[in-house]
Amino acid sequence: MDDDNKISRKAVLRAALAAGVAVPAALVAGPALARDATQTGKPPELTPSCEEGDEPTPPQMEGPYFKPNSPQRTSLVGPGTPGTRLTVSGYVFGLACLPVARALLDFWQADVNGAYDNVGYNFRGHQFTDANGAFRLSTIVPGLYPGRTRHIHVKVQAPGRPILTTQLYFPNEPRNNTDPIFDARLLMNVRDAPPGKEAAFDFVLNVPQNPSPTTTPPPGGTTWAAGASYAAGVRVTYDGRGYVCLQSHTAQPGWEPPSAPSLWRAD
Ligand SMILES: [Fe+2]
Repeated sequence: MDDDNKISRKAVLRAALAAGVAVPAALVAGPALARDATQTGKPPELTPSCEEGDEPTPPQMEGPYFKPNSPQRTSLVGPGTPGTRLTVSGYVFGLACLPVARALLDFWQADVNGAYDNVGYNFRGHQFTDANGAFRLSTIVPGLYPGRTRHIHVKVQAPGRPILTTQLYFPNEPRNNTDPIFDARLLMNVRDAPPGKEAAFDFVLNVPQNPSPTTTPPPGGTTWAAGASYAAGVRVTYDGRGYVCLQSHTAQPGWEPPSAPSLWRAD
């Protein structure tokens, strides 16, 4: 792959921000991008992220409380579950920063009192990423227990690939400084979302991926299509209008030419 094709989603967003253009909502909601502005009104942090060449998400110890055969479910809470509500959402990527569909995520964590359910399956559940590589977990902020900072355990596995076992952490926890297992690379992006919190984290699995080959459009341009790779200067048509590609990239849903001024200009 040549350098022109190495543009990342993060770079696309950065280019759009630097150019002062509005970032389409669909782009902000897409893979590997900050989810929202902070409450202070500052620009969103461009993390979590995935750039080609990024190291895969680091593994961590499983610990003593994993149990196989967790229920398949995206919510670990019921109406009466005590604790601060927390959603954890994000994407699973491979080494080329392409989303991994149908990746398994198996979460387990302590309850509000810092206790694991070793008899049943409270606060245990697995789910699969959707076609866009996205996942979403509804749970609570786990309680603290002796010797550890606040964390959520997870196993992540692309179909037919080895399992990544790791843990996710919360920023600004006093015990992050004293927990020898803590790894800042596994910090989630957490924000208040009254009455609870929202956290975001994107996994990068050590899974080889082959980006789509560069499309060679016929003379006169071709019709824009998600999943196709476009080189700078290529002409396409979309919704009856012509556009010129400004940056080489692989098209994603939500990056349609009228919505992605950093990628396309009207011809
Ligand atoms: Fe734990």
